[in-house]
Amino acid sequence: MPNPPVIAPSILAADFRQLGADIAACEAAGAEWIHIDVMDGHFVPNLTMGPVVVEACRKATNLLLDVHLMIEKPENLLEAFAKAGADRLTVHVETCPHLHRTIQQIKGLGVKPGVTLNPGTPASAIAPVLDMVDLVLVMTVNPGFGGQAFIESQLAKIKEIRSVLDAINPDAWLEVDGGISERTLPRVQSAGADAFVAGSAVFNHPDGIETGVRILKSALG
Ligand code: DX5
Ligand code: ZN
Repeated sequence: MPNPPVIAPSILAADFRQLGADIAACEAAGAEWIHIDVMDGHFVPNLTMGPVVVEACRKATNLLLDVHLMIEKPENLLEAFAKAGADRLTVHVETCPHLHRTIQQIKGLGVKPGVTLNPGTPASAIAPVLDMVDLVLVMTVNPGFGGQAFIESQLAKIKEIRSVLDAINPDAWLEVDGGISERTLPRVQSAGADAFVAGSAVFNHPDGIETGVRILKSALG
């Protein structure tokens, strides 16, 4: 069974001139987590933020910092992100030839481990570690950029992973990331997701960040 649902605004779409204020607006509107998209220009064709931004977010909020590592060789930077204040570190199976060891490394740092997979990667690729993670993130766009269209075919993967988690790791979160709006959210929630990342729908909402968060919360079943 899913956990009580949470909204995780992705600061990739925030205004970095006023990151602290944007995070405060998310918090005021009832967002539960802050999602931080780390990209390296290699695994994905975009370059974003590193531990220094996580550290700044840590000073700005007590909300859970949900760090999504879209980087090659994440094992080299896990400690730096842990020291910066990440609460959860989620790694891509495509970047981890020693996925089991990498998850153990995250746990050893006292941080919650997450695993994620691209739209083109089958659920079977993460099956061997599903019993040891705090969170599974299903990408509903190809990682690299905000503002992309939701990929419908991932709904079947969300259902498939939900049924395995229910059987072997019922406390784990099942998060979705990419193209989440008040229109797509009810369908991913019905498929079994309980954590919803949203960048554009929150930070680019014409009526402001707080309205963006509240509309997503009211779309929750
Ligand atoms: C994509 C990132 C997402 C992105 C979501 O690589 O992982 O978190 O910021 O942005 P939207 O909600 O605009 O699709
Ligand atoms: Zn993300």
